[in-house]
Amino acid sequence: MRSANLLTRNLGILLLGAGLSALSAGACIGGDDAKAGAGCPDDLAFFEASVWKPILSQKCAVCHSEGGLASGSRMVLEPASADGYLEANFAAVKSVASIDVDGTSLLLLKPSGRHPDGHTGGTLVEFNGSDYEVLSTFVGRVTQGKGCDAPAASCATGAPGPRMLRRLSRSEYDATVRDLFGIVPVGHPYPKRLAERHHGAV
Ligand code: HEC
Repeated sequence: MRSANLLTRNLGILLLGAGLSALSAGACIGGDDAKAGAGCPDDLAFFEASVWKPILSQKCAVCHSEGGLASGSRMVLEPASADGYLEANFAAVKSVASIDVDGTSLLLLKPSGRHPDGHTGGTLVEFNGSDYEVLSTFVGRVTQGKGCDAPAASCATGAPGPRMLRRLSRSEYDATVRDLFGIVPVGHPYPKRLAERHHGAV
């Protein structure tokens, strides 16, 4: 049991956290993990690109899934192999995001280790670090419709352009066969001159 004193002290920190996260909610989401694409995607697209892929699937799903340590919590995530996993996970995370503890979302408090009762999973998201900012923007979007009007486009990197296909070079082919089958190929599926002539063709 926690003492009343400890609770009061934590409350101060929580209020400070609430103020800071409100400030960052509308901020430009830069950072390594926030390649959300151009413009302002809808909440589900934002969830998939910025929340699910770089954060939840990497750092949280191991416990927050069926059979995981946090399978009894309110945030149980479906694996990407399940039908409709994205919508289901979006709904589950959105609902946890709407749980407010003294002005800050549970989705921010728990993984940053700032909840008064701690987080069994530990501190996985640094307070005010780039993951925290992304989660904070997500909370702002799904609970208040905030953060979408922020000029996300100014954070977006240019479109990558169409993917080009080409035939593997001989050394790439060798390396691929070696990696996949563990054998060093002798000879090639087509003669050298033909390979050269076709090199670069699709
Ligand atoms: C090592 C296992 C583990 C990992 C990894 C983990 N968690 Fe947890 N989490 C738990 C457990 C267990 C609980 C339930 C007990 C508690 O609240 O600490 C929990 C509770 C929570 C809750 C509160 C849910 C509720 O019903 O009150 C949230 C929100 C949460 N975690 C978010 C996250 C996020 C976001 C991540 C990834 C950044 C994460 N957790 C990673 C184990 C984990």
